[in-house]
Amino acid sequence: MSVSIAETVVWRALQRHAVDIAASHLRDLLADSHRSLQMVAEHDGIVLDYSRQNANLSTVSLLLDLAHASDLKGKLRAMAAGEPINRSENRSVLHIALRANASDRYTIDGHNVVPDVLAARERIRKFAEEVRTGKWLGTTGKPLRNVIAVGIGGSYLGTSFVAEALRTEPKCAAAAEHRRLRFLANIDPIDLARATHDLNPEETLVVVISKTFTTTETMLNARSLRDWLTSALGSNAVRQHMVAVSTNLPAVAAFGIDTDHAFGFWDWVGGRYSVCSSVGLLPLALHFGCEPMQQFLDGARSIDQHLLSAPFDRNLPVLLGLFGVWNASFLHRPVRALLPYCQALKKFTPHIQQVDMESNGKRVDIEGRPLQFEAGEFDFGEPGTNSQHSFYQLIHQGRVIPADFIGFRRSQRPYKLADNELDNHDELMANFFAQPDALALGKTAEHLRAEGVNEDLIPHREFPGNRPSNVLLLDQLDAYSTGQLLALYEHRTAVQGFVWGINSFDQWGVELGKVLATELRGHFGKRRKGEAATAAVPASTQRLLQRYFGN
Ligand code: F6P
Repeated sequence: MSVSIAETVVWRALQRHAVDIAASHLRDLLADSHRSLQMVAEHDGIVLDYSRQNANLSTVSLLLDLAHASDLKGKLRAMAAGEPINRSENRSVLHIALRANASDRYTIDGHNVVPDVLAARERIRKFAEEVRTGKWLGTTGKPLRNVIAVGIGGSYLGTSFVAEALRTEPKCAAAAEHRRLRFLANIDPIDLARATHDLNPEETLVVVISKTFTTTETMLNARSLRDWLTSALGSNAVRQHMVAVSTNLPAVAAFGIDTDHAFGFWDWVGGRYSVCSSVGLLPLALHFGCEPMQQFLDGARSIDQHLLSAPFDRNLPVLLGLFGVWNASFLHRPVRALLPYCQALKKFTPHIQQVDMESNGKRVDIEGRPLQFEAGEFDFGEPGTNSQHSFYQLIHQGRVIPADFIGFRRSQRPYKLADNELDNHDELMANFFAQPDALALGKTAEHLRAEGVNEDLIPHREFPGNRPSNVLLLDQLDAYSTGQLLALYEHRTAVQGFVWGINSFDQWGVELGKVLATELRGHFGKRRKGEAATAAVPASTQRLLQRYFGN
Protein backbone atom coordinates (compact mmCIF):
# COMPACT_ATOMS: atom_id res chain seq x y z
CA MET A 1 0.00 0.00 0.00
CA SER A 2 1.29 3.45 -0.88
CA VAL A 3 1.80 6.09 1.78
CA SER A 4 -1.01 8.64 1.96
CA ILE A 5 0.19 12.01 0.68
CA ALA A 6 -0.94 13.52 4.01
CA GLU A 7 1.75 11.49 5.77
CA THR A 8 4.64 12.90 3.77
CA VAL A 9 7.13 15.41 5.10
CA VAL A 10 6.26 17.93 2.43
CA TRP A 11 2.53 17.80 3.24
CA ARG A 12 3.33 18.69 6.85
CA ALA A 13 5.73 21.39 5.69
CA LEU A 14 2.94 22.88 3.57
CA GLN A 15 0.57 22.78 6.56
CA ARG A 16 3.09 24.77 8.60
CA HIS A 17 3.76 27.08 5.66
CA ALA A 18 0.02 27.76 5.31
CA VAL A 19 0.07 29.31 8.79
CA ASP A 20 2.79 31.76 7.68
CA ILE A 21 0.98 32.57 4.48
CA ALA A 22 -2.26 33.19 6.37
CA ALA A 23 -0.41 35.99 8.15
CA SER A 24 0.55 37.67 4.86
CA HIS A 25 -1.55 39.92 2.65
CA LEU A 26 -1.66 40.01 -1.13
CA ARG A 27 -1.10 43.77 -0.95
CA ASP A 28 2.39 43.06 0.34
CA LEU A 29 2.97 39.98 -1.76
CA LEU A 30 2.08 41.85 -4.95
CA ALA A 31 4.35 44.72 -3.95
CA ASP A 32 7.26 42.31 -4.34
CA SER A 33 7.72 42.60 -8.08
CA HIS A 34 10.47 39.97 -8.19
CA ARG A 35 8.01 37.43 -6.72
CA SER A 36 5.12 38.50 -8.91
CA LEU A 37 7.00 38.52 -12.20
CA GLN A 38 8.15 34.96 -11.52
CA MET A 39 4.61 33.70 -10.97
CA VAL A 40 3.62 33.47 -14.58
CA ALA A 41 3.78 30.68 -17.13
CA GLU A 42 3.03 30.63 -20.83
CA HIS A 43 2.32 28.01 -23.46
CA ASP A 44 1.12 28.26 -27.06
CA GLY A 45 -0.60 31.63 -26.72
CA ILE A 46 -1.95 31.13 -23.18
CA VAL A 47 -0.60 33.22 -20.33
CA LEU A 48 -1.27 32.03 -16.80
CA ASP A 49 -0.57 34.65 -14.15
CA TYR A 50 -0.81 33.07 -10.71
CA SER A 51 0.80 35.95 -8.81
CA ARG A 52 -2.49 36.70 -7.07
CA GLN A 53 -2.48 33.39 -5.21
CA ASN A 54 -1.96 33.55 -1.45
CA ALA A 55 1.54 32.27 -1.99
CA ASN A 56 5.17 33.25 -2.20
CA LEU A 57 8.04 31.61 -4.07
CA SER A 58 8.56 29.15 -1.18
CA THR A 59 4.94 28.04 -1.61
CA VAL A 60 5.58 27.33 -5.26
CA SER A 61 8.67 25.33 -4.49
CA LEU A 62 6.90 23.35 -1.74
CA LEU A 63 4.01 22.61 -4.08
CA LEU A 64 6.47 21.36 -6.69
CA ASP A 65 7.96 19.12 -3.98
CA LEU A 66 4.45 17.89 -3.26
CA ALA A 67 4.01 17.01 -6.93
CA HIS A 68 7.23 15.05 -6.70
CA ALA A 69 6.20 13.32 -3.43
CA SER A 70 2.91 12.25 -4.98
CA ASP A 71 4.78 10.81 -7.99
CA LEU A 72 2.78 13.07 -10.28
CA LYS A 73 5.22 12.42 -13.12
CA GLY A 74 4.90 8.65 -12.76
CA LYS A 75 1.11 8.86 -12.58
CA LEU A 76 0.91 11.03 -15.72
CA ARG A 77 3.23 8.57 -17.45
CA ALA A 78 1.03 5.65 -16.35
CA MET A 79 -2.05 7.44 -17.70
CA ALA A 80 -0.39 8.09 -21.06
CA ALA A 81 0.92 4.51 -21.14
CA GLY A 82 -2.65 3.20 -21.02
CA GLU A 83 -2.26 1.52 -17.64
CA PRO A 84 -5.59 0.72 -15.91
CA ILE A 85 -5.30 3.64 -13.48
CA ASN A 86 -9.07 3.72 -12.97
CA ARG A 87 -8.65 0.83 -10.61
CA SER A 88 -12.19 0.49 -9.26
CA GLU A 89 -13.40 -0.13 -12.83
CA ASN A 90 -10.14 -1.66 -14.08
CA ARG A 91 -9.97 0.76 -16.99
CA SER A 92 -7.34 2.79 -18.76
CA VAL A 93 -7.81 6.56 -18.96
CA LEU A 94 -6.68 7.60 -22.38
CA HIS A 95 -8.80 10.54 -23.52
CA ILE A 96 -5.55 12.19 -24.65
CA ALA A 97 -5.40 9.57 -27.42
CA LEU A 98 -8.63 11.03 -28.81
CA ARG A 99 -6.67 14.13 -29.82
CA ALA A 100 -3.74 12.21 -31.31
CA ASN A 101 -2.49 12.64 -34.80
CA ALA A 102 -0.98 9.93 -37.00
CA SER A 103 2.52 10.45 -35.62
CA ASP A 104 1.41 9.69 -32.05
CA ARG A 105 1.29 6.29 -30.41
CA TYR A 106 -0.84 5.42 -27.39
CA THR A 107 -1.12 1.79 -26.44
CA ILE A 108 -3.26 -0.37 -24.22
CA ASP A 109 -1.85 -3.85 -23.60
CA GLY A 110 0.50 -3.32 -26.53
CA HIS A 111 -2.30 -2.31 -28.94
CA ASN A 112 -1.85 1.12 -30.50
CA VAL A 113 -5.26 2.79 -30.27
CA VAL A 114 -4.38 5.74 -32.51
CA PRO A 115 -5.34 4.03 -35.81
CA ASP A 116 -8.74 3.16 -34.25
CA VAL A 117 -9.21 6.80 -33.21
CA LEU A 118 -8.30 8.06 -36.69
CA ALA A 119 -10.61 5.53 -38.35
CA ALA A 120 -13.50 6.61 -36.10
CA ARG A 121 -12.76 10.25 -36.97
CA GLU A 122 -12.76 9.42 -40.67
CA ARG A 123 -16.18 7.72 -40.40
CA ILE A 124 -17.55 10.83 -38.70
CA ARG A 125 -16.03 13.03 -41.39
CA LYS A 126 -17.69 11.01 -44.17
CA PHE A 127 -21.07 10.89 -42.49
CA ALA A 128 -21.05 14.58 -41.56
CA GLU A 129 -20.11 15.47 -45.14
CA GLU A 130 -22.91 13.31 -46.51
CA VAL A 131 -25.48 14.98 -44.27
CA ARG A 132 -24.12 18.49 -44.78
CA THR A 133 -23.94 18.17 -48.58
CA GLY A 134 -27.40 16.62 -48.84
CA LYS A 135 -26.20 13.21 -49.98
CA TRP A 136 -27.86 11.74 -46.92
CA LEU A 137 -31.47 12.92 -46.92
CA GLY A 138 -34.54 12.51 -44.74
CA THR A 139 -37.31 10.08 -45.70
CA THR A 140 -39.22 12.76 -47.59
CA GLY A 141 -36.12 13.77 -49.55
CA LYS A 142 -35.34 16.91 -47.56
CA PRO A 143 -31.82 17.75 -46.37
CA LEU A 144 -31.29 17.24 -42.64
CA ARG A 145 -30.36 20.68 -41.41
CA ASN A 146 -31.35 20.23 -37.78
CA VAL A 147 -29.61 18.00 -35.27
CA ILE A 148 -30.98 17.09 -31.86
CA ALA A 149 -28.22 15.62 -29.72
CA VAL A 150 -29.78 13.49 -26.99
CA GLY A 151 -27.56 12.64 -24.04
CA ILE A 152 -26.87 13.68 -20.46
CA GLY A 153 -23.88 14.39 -18.20
CA GLY A 154 -20.65 13.65 -20.03
CA SER A 155 -22.68 12.79 -23.12
CA TYR A 156 -23.99 16.34 -23.24
CA LEU A 157 -22.17 19.00 -21.22
CA GLY A 158 -18.88 19.09 -23.11
CA THR A 159 -20.55 19.16 -26.51
CA SER A 160 -22.90 21.90 -25.40
CA PHE A 161 -19.92 23.95 -24.12
CA VAL A 162 -18.09 23.64 -27.45
CA ALA A 163 -21.21 24.35 -29.51
CA GLU A 164 -21.82 27.51 -27.51
CA ALA A 165 -18.16 28.57 -27.66
CA LEU A 166 -18.13 28.37 -31.47
CA ARG A 167 -21.64 29.61 -32.19
CA THR A 168 -20.50 33.20 -32.75
CA GLU A 169 -16.97 32.47 -34.01
CA PRO A 170 -17.19 33.90 -37.53
CA LYS A 171 -15.90 30.88 -39.50
CA CYS A 172 -17.90 28.41 -37.45
CA ALA A 173 -21.00 30.58 -37.65
CA ALA A 174 -20.67 30.70 -41.45
CA ALA A 175 -20.22 26.92 -41.61
CA ALA A 176 -23.34 26.41 -39.49
CA GLU A 177 -25.51 28.87 -41.39
CA HIS A 178 -29.10 27.64 -41.80
CA ARG A 179 -28.36 24.71 -39.52
CA ARG A 180 -29.63 24.20 -35.98
CA LEU A 181 -28.07 22.15 -33.19
CA ARG A 182 -30.24 21.47 -30.17
CA PHE A 183 -29.63 19.40 -27.06
CA LEU A 184 -32.01 17.21 -25.13
CA ALA A 185 -30.66 16.11 -21.77
CA ASN A 186 -33.17 16.42 -18.95
CA ILE A 187 -35.85 13.75 -18.50
CA ASP A 188 -38.16 16.71 -17.83
CA PRO A 189 -40.76 16.82 -20.64
CA ILE A 190 -40.26 20.58 -20.77
CA ASP A 191 -36.79 19.94 -22.20
CA LEU A 192 -38.35 17.66 -24.84
CA ALA A 193 -40.85 20.36 -25.79
CA ARG A 194 -38.10 22.96 -26.04
CA ALA A 195 -35.80 20.72 -28.08
CA THR A 196 -38.45 19.91 -30.67
CA HIS A 197 -40.18 23.28 -30.68
CA ASP A 198 -40.52 24.66 -34.23
CA LEU A 199 -38.38 21.89 -35.75
CA ASN A 200 -39.65 20.03 -38.76
CA PRO A 201 -39.12 16.25 -38.26
CA GLU A 202 -38.55 15.94 -42.02
CA GLU A 203 -35.39 18.02 -41.67
CA THR A 204 -34.19 16.67 -38.33
CA LEU A 205 -31.52 14.13 -37.47
CA VAL A 206 -31.51 12.74 -33.92
CA VAL A 207 -28.15 11.67 -32.52
CA VAL A 208 -28.60 9.47 -29.46
CA ILE A 209 -25.45 9.71 -27.35
CA SER A 210 -24.90 7.38 -24.44
CA LYS A 211 -21.77 5.47 -23.55
CA THR A 212 -23.79 2.75 -21.82
CA PHE A 213 -27.02 3.16 -23.84
CA THR A 214 -28.89 2.40 -20.63
CA THR A 215 -29.09 5.83 -18.99
CA THR A 216 -32.73 6.37 -18.00
CA GLU A 217 -33.00 9.98 -19.09
CA THR A 218 -31.39 9.42 -22.47
CA MET A 219 -33.31 6.28 -23.28
CA LEU A 220 -36.68 7.85 -22.43
CA ASN A 221 -35.81 10.96 -24.42
CA ALA A 222 -34.60 8.83 -27.36
CA ARG A 223 -37.85 6.85 -27.32
CA SER A 224 -39.82 10.10 -27.15
CA LEU A 225 -37.97 11.49 -30.16
CA ARG A 226 -38.40 8.22 -32.03
CA ASP A 227 -42.11 8.62 -31.37
CA TRP A 228 -41.98 12.27 -32.53
CA LEU A 229 -40.25 11.23 -35.77
CA THR A 230 -42.29 8.12 -36.57
CA SER A 231 -45.62 9.81 -35.78
CA ALA A 232 -44.79 12.40 -38.41
CA LEU A 233 -42.88 10.31 -40.94
CA GLY A 234 -43.83 6.66 -40.41
CA SER A 235 -41.88 3.76 -38.95
CA ASN A 236 -39.13 3.96 -41.59
CA ALA A 237 -38.00 7.30 -40.19
CA VAL A 238 -35.58 5.74 -37.72
CA ARG A 239 -33.30 4.55 -40.52
CA GLN A 240 -32.70 8.00 -41.99
CA HIS A 241 -33.34 10.19 -38.98
CA MET A 242 -31.68 8.48 -36.02
CA VAL A 243 -28.03 7.59 -35.42
CA ALA A 244 -26.24 6.62 -32.23
CA VAL A 245 -22.99 7.16 -30.39
CA SER A 246 -22.22 4.43 -27.88
CA THR A 247 -19.83 1.76 -26.68
CA ASN A 248 -22.80 -0.62 -26.31
CA LEU A 249 -23.65 -1.65 -29.87
CA PRO A 250 -26.01 -4.54 -28.90
CA ALA A 251 -28.17 -2.04 -26.99
CA VAL A 252 -28.12 0.32 -30.00
CA ALA A 253 -29.37 -2.52 -32.22
CA ALA A 254 -32.01 -3.51 -29.65
CA PHE A 255 -33.27 0.09 -29.69
CA GLY A 256 -33.80 -0.21 -33.44
CA ILE A 257 -30.89 1.83 -34.76
CA ASP A 258 -28.86 -0.01 -37.39
CA THR A 259 -25.35 -0.51 -36.00
CA ASP A 260 -24.04 0.71 -39.37
CA HIS A 261 -25.44 4.03 -38.21
CA ALA A 262 -23.70 3.83 -34.84
CA PHE A 263 -20.46 5.58 -34.00
CA GLY A 264 -18.44 3.82 -31.39
CA PHE A 265 -15.85 4.77 -28.83
CA TRP A 266 -14.08 2.85 -26.13
CA ASP A 267 -14.28 2.04 -22.43
CA TRP A 268 -10.96 3.84 -21.88
CA VAL A 269 -12.82 7.12 -22.50
CA GLY A 270 -14.63 8.29 -19.37
CA GLY A 271 -18.02 9.94 -19.98
CA ARG A 272 -16.97 13.36 -18.71
CA TYR A 273 -13.74 13.14 -20.72
CA SER A 274 -15.48 12.10 -23.94
CA VAL A 275 -16.12 15.34 -25.82
CA CYS A 276 -13.20 14.62 -28.20
CA SER A 277 -14.65 11.18 -29.07
CA SER A 278 -17.67 10.58 -31.33
CA VAL A 279 -19.72 11.91 -28.39
CA GLY A 280 -18.77 15.49 -29.23
CA LEU A 281 -17.25 15.18 -32.66
CA LEU A 282 -20.30 13.76 -34.40
CA PRO A 283 -22.89 16.41 -33.47
CA LEU A 284 -20.32 19.20 -33.71
CA ALA A 285 -19.03 18.06 -37.12
CA LEU A 286 -22.61 17.78 -38.39
CA HIS A 287 -23.20 21.35 -37.30
CA PHE A 288 -19.90 23.14 -37.96
CA GLY A 289 -18.20 20.80 -40.45
CA CYS A 290 -15.00 18.87 -39.84
CA GLU A 291 -12.36 21.56 -40.23
CA PRO A 292 -13.09 23.38 -36.96
CA MET A 293 -13.28 20.05 -35.20
CA GLN A 294 -9.77 19.17 -36.30
CA GLN A 295 -8.58 22.57 -35.00
CA PHE A 296 -10.37 21.87 -31.73
CA LEU A 297 -8.56 18.53 -31.41
CA ASP A 298 -5.23 20.17 -32.31
CA GLY A 299 -5.72 22.73 -29.53
CA ALA A 300 -6.41 19.99 -26.99
CA ARG A 301 -3.39 18.01 -28.26
CA SER A 302 -1.15 21.03 -27.77
CA ILE A 303 -2.04 21.05 -24.06
CA ASP A 304 -1.70 17.25 -23.82
CA GLN A 305 1.85 17.44 -25.16
CA HIS A 306 2.61 20.34 -22.86
CA LEU A 307 1.26 18.43 -19.82
CA LEU A 308 3.40 15.43 -20.59
CA SER A 309 6.61 17.26 -21.47
CA ALA A 310 6.87 20.70 -19.84
CA PRO A 311 8.74 21.06 -16.56
CA PHE A 312 6.22 21.34 -13.74
CA ASP A 313 7.24 24.88 -12.81
CA ARG A 314 6.18 25.99 -16.31
CA ASN A 315 3.37 23.49 -16.83
CA LEU A 316 0.00 25.24 -16.97
CA PRO A 317 -2.33 22.39 -15.95
CA VAL A 318 0.12 21.27 -13.26
CA LEU A 319 0.32 24.79 -11.78
CA LEU A 320 -3.47 25.16 -11.89
CA GLY A 321 -3.85 21.79 -10.18
CA LEU A 322 -1.22 22.46 -7.52
CA PHE A 323 -2.87 25.74 -6.58
CA GLY A 324 -6.22 23.92 -6.51
CA VAL A 325 -4.74 21.56 -3.91
CA TRP A 326 -3.15 24.47 -2.02
CA ASN A 327 -6.43 26.37 -1.77
CA ALA A 328 -8.65 23.39 -0.97
CA SER A 329 -6.49 21.32 1.35
CA PHE A 330 -4.18 23.84 3.04
CA LEU A 331 -6.08 27.12 3.01
CA HIS A 332 -9.45 25.36 3.53
CA ARG A 333 -11.32 26.95 0.65
CA PRO A 334 -13.89 24.47 -0.60
CA VAL A 335 -15.43 26.65 -3.31
CA ARG A 336 -13.91 28.17 -6.43
CA ALA A 337 -15.23 30.34 -9.22
CA LEU A 338 -14.61 30.04 -12.95
CA LEU A 339 -15.17 33.44 -14.50
CA PRO A 340 -14.77 33.69 -18.27
CA TYR A 341 -14.94 37.24 -19.55
CA CYS A 342 -16.47 35.92 -22.73
CA GLN A 343 -20.15 35.30 -23.28
CA ALA A 344 -19.37 32.42 -25.64
CA LEU A 345 -17.94 30.50 -22.67
CA LYS A 346 -21.22 30.54 -20.79
CA LYS A 347 -21.44 26.73 -20.88
CA PHE A 348 -17.82 26.23 -19.88
CA THR A 349 -18.45 26.30 -16.14
CA PRO A 350 -21.31 23.76 -16.25
CA HIS A 351 -19.01 21.42 -18.16
CA ILE A 352 -16.09 21.90 -15.79
CA GLN A 353 -18.45 21.38 -12.87
CA GLN A 354 -19.05 17.84 -14.05
CA VAL A 355 -15.45 17.21 -15.07
CA ASP A 356 -14.16 18.31 -11.72
CA MET A 357 -16.88 17.52 -9.22
CA GLU A 358 -17.66 14.06 -10.56
CA SER A 359 -13.94 13.31 -10.76
CA ASN A 360 -12.64 14.64 -7.46
CA GLY A 361 -15.75 14.57 -5.29
CA LYS A 362 -14.41 11.58 -3.38
CA ARG A 363 -14.16 10.57 0.28
CA VAL A 364 -11.53 7.85 0.05
CA ASP A 365 -8.17 7.55 -1.65
CA ILE A 366 -7.40 5.13 -4.46
CA GLU A 367 -6.64 2.43 -1.89
CA GLY A 368 -10.04 2.93 -0.23
CA ARG A 369 -8.74 4.76 2.87
CA PRO A 370 -10.77 7.73 4.14
CA LEU A 371 -9.09 10.98 3.11
CA GLN A 372 -7.33 12.79 5.94
CA PHE A 373 -7.75 16.18 4.32
CA GLU A 374 -10.27 18.26 2.43
CA ALA A 375 -10.36 17.39 -1.27
CA GLY A 376 -12.67 18.31 -4.12
CA GLU A 377 -14.13 21.74 -4.67
CA PHE A 378 -17.50 23.14 -5.51
CA ASP A 379 -17.01 24.82 -8.90
CA PHE A 380 -19.38 27.53 -10.01
CA GLY A 381 -19.34 30.58 -12.23
CA GLU A 382 -20.88 32.77 -14.87
CA PRO A 383 -19.41 34.93 -17.58
CA GLY A 384 -18.21 38.40 -16.58
CA THR A 385 -19.57 41.03 -16.42
CA ASN A 386 -22.94 39.41 -15.61
CA SER A 387 -21.34 37.68 -12.63
CA GLN A 388 -20.19 41.06 -11.26
CA HIS A 389 -23.84 42.07 -10.93
CA SER A 390 -24.77 38.76 -9.34
CA PHE A 391 -22.43 37.18 -6.80
CA TYR A 392 -19.34 39.42 -6.66
CA GLN A 393 -20.64 41.08 -3.52
CA LEU A 394 -20.03 37.79 -1.73
CA ILE A 395 -16.60 37.19 -3.22
CA HIS A 396 -15.40 40.73 -2.47
CA GLN A 397 -16.73 41.20 1.06
CA GLY A 398 -18.22 37.87 2.11
CA ARG A 399 -16.50 34.52 1.65
CA VAL A 400 -13.02 33.98 0.26
CA ILE A 401 -13.49 32.12 -3.03
CA PRO A 402 -10.46 31.50 -5.24
CA ALA A 403 -11.33 32.50 -8.80
CA ASP A 404 -10.01 31.85 -12.28
CA PHE A 405 -10.45 34.78 -14.64
CA ILE A 406 -10.32 33.84 -18.33
CA GLY A 407 -10.08 36.58 -20.93
CA PHE A 408 -9.12 37.14 -24.56
CA ARG A 409 -7.10 39.78 -26.34
CA ARG A 410 -9.54 39.89 -29.23
CA SER A 411 -13.29 39.41 -29.36
CA GLN A 412 -15.06 36.95 -31.64
CA ARG A 413 -17.37 39.83 -32.51
CA PRO A 414 -15.63 43.22 -32.22
CA TYR A 415 -17.91 46.22 -32.05
CA LYS A 416 -17.28 49.89 -31.61
CA LEU A 417 -19.63 52.82 -31.39
CA ALA A 418 -18.39 55.84 -33.29
CA ASP A 419 -18.96 58.08 -30.28
CA ASN A 420 -17.39 55.75 -27.71
CA GLU A 421 -13.72 56.09 -26.89
CA LEU A 422 -13.18 52.35 -26.51
CA ASP A 423 -14.53 49.41 -28.40
CA ASN A 424 -16.95 47.18 -26.49
CA HIS A 425 -14.36 44.45 -25.97
CA ASP A 426 -12.02 46.93 -24.28
CA GLU A 427 -14.91 47.94 -22.03
CA LEU A 428 -15.32 44.29 -21.07
CA MET A 429 -11.61 43.73 -20.56
CA ALA A 430 -11.18 46.78 -18.33
CA ASN A 431 -13.40 44.87 -15.93
CA PHE A 432 -11.44 41.68 -16.48
CA PHE A 433 -8.17 43.30 -15.42
CA ALA A 434 -9.71 45.33 -12.59
CA GLN A 435 -11.49 42.57 -10.70
CA PRO A 436 -8.50 40.35 -9.78
CA ASP A 437 -6.69 43.39 -8.35
CA ALA A 438 -9.79 44.56 -6.51
CA LEU A 439 -10.07 41.12 -4.93
CA ALA A 440 -6.39 40.96 -4.07
CA LEU A 441 -5.73 44.52 -2.91
CA GLY A 442 -9.05 45.47 -1.40
CA LYS A 443 -9.61 48.92 0.06
CA THR A 444 -8.60 49.88 3.58
CA ALA A 445 -10.39 51.94 6.20
CA GLU A 446 -7.55 54.50 5.99
CA HIS A 447 -8.07 54.83 2.28
CA LEU A 448 -11.80 55.38 2.81
CA ARG A 449 -11.14 57.96 5.53
CA ALA A 450 -8.79 59.81 3.21
CA GLU A 451 -11.64 59.93 0.71
CA GLY A 452 -13.80 61.52 3.39
CA VAL A 453 -16.16 58.57 3.84
CA ASN A 454 -18.38 58.89 6.87
CA GLU A 455 -17.04 56.85 9.82
CA ASP A 456 -20.21 54.77 10.30
CA LEU A 457 -20.09 53.70 6.65
CA ILE A 458 -16.47 52.60 6.76
CA PRO A 459 -17.10 48.99 7.92
CA HIS A 460 -19.63 48.60 5.12
CA ARG A 461 -17.38 50.03 2.45
CA GLU A 462 -14.13 48.42 3.46
CA PHE A 463 -12.76 45.66 1.23
CA PRO A 464 -10.48 43.22 3.09
CA GLY A 465 -8.77 42.09 -0.12
CA ASN A 466 -6.30 39.19 0.08
CA ARG A 467 -8.63 37.13 -2.14
CA PRO A 468 -6.77 34.84 -4.52
CA SER A 469 -7.22 34.37 -8.24
CA ASN A 470 -5.55 33.13 -11.41
CA VAL A 471 -5.62 35.17 -14.59
CA LEU A 472 -5.61 33.33 -17.91
CA LEU A 473 -5.19 35.45 -21.00
CA LEU A 474 -5.59 33.98 -24.49
CA ASP A 475 -5.62 35.53 -27.96
CA GLN A 476 -9.08 34.73 -29.18
CA LEU A 477 -11.80 32.15 -28.61
CA ASP A 478 -11.80 29.93 -31.68
CA ALA A 479 -11.93 26.18 -32.24
CA TYR A 480 -8.23 25.76 -31.39
CA SER A 481 -8.30 27.70 -28.13
CA THR A 482 -11.58 26.01 -27.15
CA GLY A 483 -9.70 22.70 -27.38
CA GLN A 484 -6.86 24.16 -25.34
CA LEU A 485 -9.19 25.33 -22.58
CA LEU A 486 -10.94 21.98 -22.47
CA ALA A 487 -7.69 20.04 -22.06
CA LEU A 488 -6.26 22.56 -19.61
CA TYR A 489 -9.13 22.09 -17.20
CA GLU A 490 -9.47 18.34 -17.76
CA HIS A 491 -5.82 18.02 -16.77
CA ARG A 492 -6.12 20.40 -13.82
CA THR A 493 -8.63 17.96 -12.38
CA ALA A 494 -6.43 14.93 -13.08
CA VAL A 495 -3.39 16.64 -11.53
CA GLN A 496 -5.31 17.37 -8.34
CA GLY A 497 -6.59 13.81 -8.16
CA PHE A 498 -3.09 12.42 -8.70
CA VAL A 499 -1.62 14.64 -5.99
CA TRP A 500 -4.40 13.76 -3.54
CA GLY A 501 -3.99 10.08 -4.41
CA ILE A 502 -7.64 9.56 -5.34
CA ASN A 503 -9.26 7.90 -8.34
CA SER A 504 -10.53 10.80 -10.44
CA PHE A 505 -11.99 8.51 -13.07
CA ASP A 506 -14.84 6.60 -11.40
CA GLN A 507 -18.17 7.99 -10.17
CA TRP A 508 -19.81 5.55 -7.77
CA GLY A 509 -21.44 8.45 -5.97
CA VAL A 510 -24.07 8.87 -8.68
CA GLU A 511 -25.42 5.34 -8.25
CA LEU A 512 -27.50 5.37 -5.06
CA GLY A 513 -29.90 8.10 -6.20
CA LYS A 514 -30.43 6.25 -9.49
CA VAL A 515 -31.28 3.00 -7.67
CA LEU A 516 -33.77 4.71 -5.34
CA ALA A 517 -35.39 6.50 -8.29
CA THR A 518 -35.82 3.17 -10.08
CA GLU A 519 -37.43 1.66 -6.98
CA LEU A 520 -39.79 4.60 -6.64
CA ARG A 521 -40.62 4.39 -10.31
CA GLY A 522 -42.10 0.92 -9.66
CA HIS A 523 -44.17 2.42 -6.88
CA PHE A 524 -45.36 5.22 -9.16
CA GLY A 525 -46.49 2.61 -11.72
CA LYS A 526 -48.72 0.90 -9.17
CA ARG A 527 -50.17 4.19 -7.92
CA ARG A 528 -50.98 5.35 -11.43
CA LYS A 529 -52.81 2.08 -12.05
CA GLY A 530 -54.89 2.81 -8.95
CA GLU A 531 -53.32 0.00 -6.94
CA ALA A 532 -52.75 0.61 -3.26
CA ALA A 533 -49.01 0.76 -2.71
CA THR A 534 -46.77 1.97 0.02
CA ALA A 535 -43.18 2.67 -0.89
CA ALA A 536 -40.50 1.60 1.56
CA VAL A 537 -39.48 5.20 2.25
CA PRO A 538 -39.28 7.39 5.36
CA ALA A 539 -42.54 8.84 6.69
CA SER A 540 -41.65 12.31 5.44
CA THR A 541 -41.18 11.03 1.88
CA GLN A 542 -44.43 9.06 2.22
CA ARG A 543 -46.26 12.27 3.14
CA LEU A 544 -44.80 14.10 0.14
CA LEU A 545 -45.79 11.22 -2.16
CA GLN A 546 -49.35 11.37 -0.86
CA ARG A 547 -49.41 15.04 -1.70
CA TYR A 548 -47.97 14.35 -5.17
CA PHE A 549 -50.57 11.69 -5.92
CA GLY A 550 -53.30 13.89 -4.52
CA ASN A 551 -54.53 11.81 -1.58
O1 F6P B 1 -23.99 11.02 -14.10
C1 F6P B 1 -23.46 9.76 -14.18
C2 F6P B 1 -23.00 9.38 -15.57
O2 F6P B 1 -22.60 8.06 -15.51
C3 F6P B 1 -21.88 10.28 -16.08
O3 F6P B 1 -20.63 9.92 -15.64
C4 F6P B 1 -22.05 10.12 -17.55
O4 F6P B 1 -21.40 11.13 -18.22
C5 F6P B 1 -23.54 10.20 -17.67
O5 F6P B 1 -24.02 9.51 -16.54
C6 F6P B 1 -24.14 9.66 -18.94
O6 F6P B 1 -23.84 8.32 -19.16
P1 F6P B 1 -24.06 7.64 -20.56
O7 F6P B 1 -23.17 8.27 -21.56
O8 F6P B 1 -23.75 6.20 -20.35
O9 F6P B 1 -25.51 7.82 -20.94
